[in-house]
Amino acid sequence: MLDWSDPEVVAKKKAEAAVAAGLDAAGAENLAVEATGLGEIDRNAGRVTVDDKAMINCRADVNQLLPLKYHWAWEKYLAGCNNHWMPTEVSMQADIALWKAPNGLTADERHAIKRNLGFFAASESLVANNIVLAIYRHLTNPECRQYLLRQAFEEAVHTHTFQYIVESLGLDEGELFNMYREVPSITDKAAWALKYTQHLDDPSFTTGTPEKDQAFVRDLIAFYVVFEGMWFYTGFAQILSLGRRNKMVGIAEQYQYILRDESIHLNFGIDVINQIRAENPHIWTDAFQKEVRIMLAEAAELEAAYGRDTMPRGFLGLNAALCEQYMHFIANRRCAQLGLAPVFGPAENPFPWMSEAMDLKKEKNFFETRVIEYQNGGALSWD
Ligand SMILES: [Fe+2]
Ligand SMILES: [Fe+2]
Repeated sequence: MLDWSDPEVVAKKKAEAAVAAGLDAAGAENLAVEATGLGEIDRNAGRVTVDDKAMINCRADVNQLLPLKYHWAWEKYLAGCNNHWMPTEVSMQADIALWKAPNGLTADERHAIKRNLGFFAASESLVANNIVLAIYRHLTNPECRQYLLRQAFEEAVHTHTFQYIVESLGLDEGELFNMYREVPSITDKAAWALKYTQHLDDPSFTTGTPEKDQAFVRDLIAFYVVFEGMWFYTGFAQILSLGRRNKMVGIAEQYQYILRDESIHLNFGIDVINQIRAENPHIWTDAFQKEVRIMLAEAAELEAAYGRDTMPRGFLGLNAALCEQYMHFIANRRCAQLGLAPVFGPAENPFPWMSEAMDLKKEKNFFETRVIEYQNGGALSWD
């Protein structure tokens, strides 16, 4: 077994990693050694024990799933597999008829639907790229990586959903998929999140110092808590609200499945962040907690601007003010999940039916569709 307390061993591993990353001497100096799983095999290493495992900066072999340490990660992997679905199994006939009928939807509803689809179409790819290119490398635990691989596939299924919707409804693919670069309220959200993953994009970036570990946690918060845990939720509320009124029921059903997946993504992210906090309490400083609360407040404001843009007049049961209130409610809930004080005053949930929409077991006939066939015991107990 390598002795990581030996400076010579660390220096040798640093040099190897620097060569692999194509770094010069200055870059190598900043390089902490990370267990990627792709390093040289240590033929004399002993067997891995649970105590060797850690969320970040782990030296234990990441190519060995067992023994499990973080059972919550494995449980989420199993739940994700149990929730398997494909967008093409959902009938789009009613949506196509409604979308093509001259008076089937109001102009405001069409505007909101297109903005909503445009936001999700690119966002699923942004989230997927962040998992694969930024998070995976630095999360040095095999059971968490096992979940990330499942999540990455689910994000591909979600992107597939938007391709299928565009094709079914005959929408302009460029208009929808390029919307995140053309519509400022969507661009602002994507740009806000991207700055956190860009920080990790430098090939010489590794965790291993308090500042760098905080940068990694910031990225987890931006994508899991904000992107998937706040912004997606307004999007779900918009489409599910239409579904409740029997409009765009195929898309609403697909969004129910996406919501079921995303609620596990969110809760995996929360568990990862809280486990990193527990193992590295020195990075969760008062200043850092304050920073995280500011991030959540900024994110809620960006979402309020997006709400005003997508629903300038609102429509039955839904408007920008209610969505802003919902974001305050959600932001406070996310703070509580991270052990932080709320960022907003007490806010009531204006869409209590959202929790019913998420509980597919209880509401399996919500849209009188085929939900029951996909639910093989992957109960949804997270929100
Ligand atoms: Fe997704
Ligand atoms: Fe996701």
